[in-house]
Amino acid sequence: MYINAGLIGFPLSHSLSPTLHSYFFNVSGLNGGYCCFEVPNTYEIPNTIDIFKKFSFVGFNVTVPYKTEIIKYCDEIYGDALNVGAVNTVHIKNGSLIGYNTDVFGFSKLLESANISLAGKKVVLLGAGGAAKAVITYLNKNCPNILTIANRTVEKGKKLASFCQFETEVLKGFDSLKGCQYDIIINSTSLGLGSEQFPDLGIKQAEAAVDLQYKTSVTPFLANVDAVTKIDGFPMLVWQGSKAFEIWTGHKIQPDMDLLIKNIF
Ligand code: ATR
Repeated sequence: MYINAGLIGFPLSHSLSPTLHSYFFNVSGLNGGYCCFEVPNTYEIPNTIDIFKKFSFVGFNVTVPYKTEIIKYCDEIYGDALNVGAVNTVHIKNGSLIGYNTDVFGFSKLLESANISLAGKKVVLLGAGGAAKAVITYLNKNCPNILTIANRTVEKGKKLASFCQFETEVLKGFDSLKGCQYDIIINSTSLGLGSEQFPDLGIKQAEAAVDLQYKTSVTPFLANVDAVTKIDGFPMLVWQGSKAFEIWTGHKIQPDMDLLIKNIF
């Protein structure tokens, strides 16, 4: 049997997911494929779901900007998707759409693979968007001593803080971080992905800096931060994908990160 899986989002031209899932199909010995459906607006989502159902897709991933929108089409929502309020993986089972969020799992594996623990630490989180919500969901299970949320739009920072089950402070922008000391610095912003520079935050040397962004070369955030250990978000991408693959096919993957980095970039 040929296994079909898909991805919806917009734009998708730079997506690494097809290469990633081809690798998963390969190593698990399954015959299947993963294709991108670039959906330009929300009105096209039902048609795309109909195609997935018609051609017996096992499921699909959901990326920006539809991770929240897709919830209304799901028959059930499970686990972390409920806490994050976003779905990045849909399993099509007997014609029903079951929504999951595997980003929280991806983030936990990212930290685990670098031997970084956030429990009891002084942590600063830059950004308060969708990716930050997955970080908070993880932190609610692995409470830091105190979390500082720094975000350009302070209202969004405050809203995010209301989901935290531990002590938080919220800062407007990044200026007041200068000269501060944190154990762990996490970047969940999209700042630096375009042509803008990532500012020098002036934070004292941290134990670890974790960027949810990834790049072949060092990411703009990691290039500008002082930390003993620096990790980017590539392993998170791989682990969230492997969990989606497992939900669809039942096959658990132990990804070879070095091989993937060599093949993907
Ligand atoms: P994602 O789903 O990837 O988290 P998002 O929800 O759009 O994407 O969130 C992007 C985050 O990056 C937000 O915290 C955003 O700050 P605002 O809440 O003020 O919009 C932050 N961000 C994006 N561009 C930025 C910039 N140029 N300077 C500072 N923060 C920026």
